[in-house]
Amino acid sequence: MFLIGIAFIPIGVVLYLANAGVGEFDLTYGRPDPHIVTDHTVLKNVNATAHPNRDNVTFDLDDKFQNDKDIYFYYRLENYLQNYRSYRTLCREPYRSAILSDGSNVSIAPCGAIANSMFNDSFELYYYGERVPLTYKGVAWEVDKTVKFKNPTGKLWEELKQKTAKPTNWLKHVTELDLEDPDNNGYQNVDFIVWMRTAALPDFRKLYRILDRNKSATFARGLPPGRYELVIFDNYPVSRFHAKKHFIISSTSWVGGKNSFLGITYMVVGSLCIVLGCIFLVIHLNFGNSLREMGSIKES
Ligand SMILES: *[C@@H]1O[C@H](CO)[C@@H](O)[C@H](O)[C@H]1NC(C)=O
Ligand SMILES: *[C@@H]1O[C@H](CO)[C@@H](O)[C@H](O)[C@H]1NC(C)=O
Ligand SMILES: *[C@@H]1O[C@H](CO)[C@@H](O)[C@H](O)[C@H]1NC(C)=O
Ligand SMILES: *[C@@H]1O[C@H](CO)[C@@H](O)[C@H](O)[C@H]1NC(C)=O
Ligand SMILES: *[C@@H]1O[C@H](CO)[C@@H](O)[C@H](O)[C@H]1NC(C)=O
Repeated sequence: MFLIGIAFIPIGVVLYLANAGVGEFDLTYGRPDPHIVTDHTVLKNVNATAHPNRDNVTFDLDDKFQNDKDIYFYYRLENYLQNYRSYRTLCREPYRSAILSDGSNVSIAPCGAIANSMFNDSFELYYYGERVPLTYKGVAWEVDKTVKFKNPTGKLWEELKQKTAKPTNWLKHVTELDLEDPDNNGYQNVDFIVWMRTAALPDFRKLYRILDRNKSATFARGLPPGRYELVIFDNYPVSRFHAKKHFIISSTSWVGGKNSFLGITYMVVGSLCIVLGCIFLVIHLNFGNSLREMGSIKES
């Protein structure tokens, strides 16, 4: 008990301190439904006339986002049940087939309610007028791209292009999601893959982008402290079902992202071991003999 306690407490302290240097910025955004009372920060400088879907927010970051480690950008949905059973049921009508203008009945690709409701807000970040370079490289698992979401090739790709319809809520066909990078187009599109890995809990975050530290000297070490302007293309409606949207920026350390749980757990378990060790020691010193005596009584 004492050995475990002595080993765990310093590990806990080190993890806790490493975590204290990790920065996390969480912004609740989206136009709230006027009927919902919310205590979250919401956007103030919205000019709905000029840009119906575009909001600008400014905020300040401290120096915790510049430590030579990767910076991650997430979107988070709160009170959104991506794991709801009927929603997960794949490829049922009306998410399965569509009638084209020429009267033909074609399949929807990709089919199903999850694909149809793909998250489609997008974000641009500026630092004193300089666009912060974000990359989707590394956001999805390589194995997803090469196995589960692999695109059809050759003739099958042409068939996908010509003989399927887009999901009703999408503006683009799946083969046009990214015309600049074939590796990010079709089913292999990073945003699509990330969305299709359904979350089990109603409050979840999904990786959106990673800071591209190779692109510009300004961001080589991370996000410098200062004032940032976030441009949000707010396309995704959530207030109807009382969900909330967040945009999150997180730095990392050698222990990973922001998470004080691990360090605290080590410290608590270590302290418990020491306390229990003391209790057992006291019991042993006070009652150890009498137990031995009881044993010898039995033998005789
Ligand atoms: C919003 O934008 C419109 C069109 O550009 C402009 O006429 C209007 O004055 C703006 N409103 C505010 C509050 O800035
Ligand atoms: C939002 O930011 C963009 C890009 O910096 C700028 O062009 C636009 O004028 C801003 N819009 C508002 C409403 O501030
Ligand atoms: C297309 O055809 C399938 C199978 O024949 C049918 O189940 C489906 O309802 C049709 N789709 C539409 C939109 O009518
Ligand atoms: C975004 O998604 C919503 C809901 O799925 C849809 O109604 C809307 O048309 C989409 N907008 C864009 C720009 O993709
Ligand atoms: C930046 O460059 C390094 C070394 O060339 C590479 O390992 C890393 O993946 C690159 N990062 C990004 C985000 O492209």
